[in-house]
Amino acid sequence: MTRDELLCLVDTLELERKVELLTGATVWRTRSEPALGLREMVFSDGPAGVRGEEWDERRPSLLLPSASALGSLWDEQLAGELGELLAFEALRKGVHAVLAPTLNLHRTPLGGRHFECLTEDPELAARTGAALIRGIQAHGVAATAKHYVANDSETERLTLDVRVDERTLREVYLAPFEAAVGAGVWLVMSAYNRVNGTTMTANDLLAQPLKGEWGFDGAVVSDWGAVRLTAESAAAAQDLAMPGPEGPWGAALVAAVRSGHVTEEAIDDKVVRLLTLADRVGALGSGRRRPPRAWPSGTARRLLQRAVAAGTVLLRNENVLPLDASALGSVAVIGRHATAPRLQGEGSAGVFPADVVTPLEGIRARLRGRAQVLHVPGPGLGGRPRPLDPARCANPRTGEPGVLLRVLTADGRELSAEHRLTGRQLEPPLAPEAHTIEISALVRTADEGKWTFAVGGYGRMILTVDEQTLVEGEFARDTEDPAVIHLDPPRQHASVWLPADHAAHVVARRELAPDTGRAVVVTAAAPEPDPDRALFEAARAARDADVAVVVVGTTEGSESEGHDRTSLTLPGRQDELVAAVAAANPRTVVVVNSGGPVELPWREQAGAVLLSWFPGQEAGSGLADVLFGQAEPGGRLPTTWGAALTDAPVSETRPRNGALAYAEGLHIGYRAWLRAGREPAYWFGHGLGYTTWGYDRLRVASTVDEGQALLVEVRLRNTGPRPGREVVQVYLARPDSAVERPVRWLAGFTAVRAEPGETVTASVEVPARALRHWDAEEHRWRTEAGAWQILAGRSAGDLPLTATTTVRGSNNRS
Ligand code: BGC
Repeated sequence: MTRDELLCLVDTLELERKVELLTGATVWRTRSEPALGLREMVFSDGPAGVRGEEWDERRPSLLLPSASALGSLWDEQLAGELGELLAFEALRKGVHAVLAPTLNLHRTPLGGRHFECLTEDPELAARTGAALIRGIQAHGVAATAKHYVANDSETERLTLDVRVDERTLREVYLAPFEAAVGAGVWLVMSAYNRVNGTTMTANDLLAQPLKGEWGFDGAVVSDWGAVRLTAESAAAAQDLAMPGPEGPWGAALVAAVRSGHVTEEAIDDKVVRLLTLADRVGALGSGRRRPPRAWPSGTARRLLQRAVAAGTVLLRNENVLPLDASALGSVAVIGRHATAPRLQGEGSAGVFPADVVTPLEGIRARLRGRAQVLHVPGPGLGGRPRPLDPARCANPRTGEPGVLLRVLTADGRELSAEHRLTGRQLEPPLAPEAHTIEISALVRTADEGKWTFAVGGYGRMILTVDEQTLVEGEFARDTEDPAVIHLDPPRQHASVWLPADHAAHVVARRELAPDTGRAVVVTAAAPEPDPDRALFEAARAARDADVAVVVVGTTEGSESEGHDRTSLTLPGRQDELVAAVAAANPRTVVVVNSGGPVELPWREQAGAVLLSWFPGQEAGSGLADVLFGQAEPGGRLPTTWGAALTDAPVSETRPRNGALAYAEGLHIGYRAWLRAGREPAYWFGHGLGYTTWGYDRLRVASTVDEGQALLVEVRLRNTGPRPGREVVQVYLARPDSAVERPVRWLAGFTAVRAEPGETVTASVEVPARALRHWDAEEHRWRTEAGAWQILAGRSAGDLPLTATTTVRGSNNRS
């Protein structure tokens, strides 16, 4: 429908009704208006899968690799296919809008939501994000570019004031959002934080450049609970306040319109944008949603498996990979993450996957009937214990694997009882008389020793084990952050000595209290074996095997929405574990399972180092493809890895007096390393694959007119023994610039494939924008005339080819 047609529809509504439509009907739904033919729309997180309206582990979702793995693809085609997969999941779950992709940047390695962001580079974020958006929206499902803007860290995330200059905003942090609008995104989510003093839901940046200069014609939805001011946010270009039904708009906004603080035209525009969204997703008038198309069995999982291999980055390889499965007698698979990998980060992005393939399972399946595979866990990780799961406990009432969830009245009467699969219950069912939530289970104790249990939640809680009270007390809410209150409330721990082969009866109760959510989490941790002995056993197994694969990573709670990280060290004694295993067997492959950078002090000792990121449900099958050479590790680093946190030129996430200055300006990621003259462990763009490449020649026109794109041709040869794919990267530099610039910056890339010995030419288009800078005095883009350097190669730190081109122009046009 046209805007005029939609305006006519809006005209038929009373002001009160129009305003009502602008706040959600529920946590995840917008309101319907039968008089307009407007139906409810369902929103869902995103980005690594589509959860649907409920946090219910019995309704699982496909789990994709997390965003930092997608940033490693450097492959818009594959990113688009994964976007399509998200769309099909959305259709299957009755979701109209997926709250993805996250387009904030890896400003510092400590960012808690690093895993959920694609990269440190605005160009790579722009291209990968746009590809995801096009994939999602190709099937009539809205994508959401979030969180607009400068939501790059989590400390004080609801109120943090990011101080950032106009040029940096334009060239770095806004750039991926601009590309999202260029890709036709239907929703933009305004962030919680402030930028230069004003909260993003009331910030002028919503009007300009988003809706004005860029011409965004979709709707701005708030981050959940981010609208806190009535007239200011409505007068700014905020369109929809989520969640509902309560919120700061409603009657207060009607009053603000009546008193002239907000115009009725502004309200009409918001409703038109809401109706436009509904029209696009088939929730208006006779428009229909596309029927969910069932994917042929296995197609989705094969795509996910391909994505795992394509996003895996091979940092180092001393002729160890790929492994020849036919020549292996035994493989030692070492580490806790081999059997309990981290598949996704924590926070609102979380989904419940089914059919997970762990690294150990993937390797075992590939070597079945060929080689012996032994798993040795190594020392404990010392992280937070995991919530109860069906592998470790049984429902005390039915004996089925899992837990019993009951809702009780104040006098202990049972209102409901359900069998559930996890000790982390975020939305237990509520009835009018509900007073207490109870989770109970019989936890099997394989070993005798000190077991640690915990209950998480707010308000009055009690935890008993075999009728002995371990935790009892009143635990007051200590934050406003919804990701903590509803997803990860603090846990209270206590330990008890238990015999082996015992079914410990664990009962956790939480009384419901106003404004504290209803999440309850119950965890159990087995006694840890002696760590020195565990290290010794791991090293011995490695020594006795042909090959050792050691899987290490971060632990629960360390990479999560709502918190930044404080350290990049692998938890527990994992560094010692890798060092001991690598010393015992030079054919050691280390697989690093984290969402963002960790320190790798042993990296020069390991035979090979792979980054799997948070790989999603096909972790093990994708890893096996890479290990045994069915697929090349296709990933290239989307972010620079320092040897140590102390080397990182930009790492501050803690605001001072509520403000965080982006004092480094344009220089984040590799740009910061280049400016500081420091050498990271691995540069942005690095990733080895299974063949080698020789870069022969770079061709570019000797002159180009201002405002024109540049075509860069790079000739290269596959000099190795296997067919392969290479990501050819082109960077720009302007050493004699009159304005401050990064030492160099990514301007374009493309991938080529070649057989052994084959020479190919990569054509990389460098868009005109890559040669522009933002003139903050005149508030416009400009291109400097004169000589420009073009560099091509395999990473920000490995650019063997250079050429020069001259830009002809007046310096005034853009
Ligand atoms: C997160 C968003 C998310 C929203 C809804 C917020 O706390 O910042 O990314 O989409 O919750 O779950």
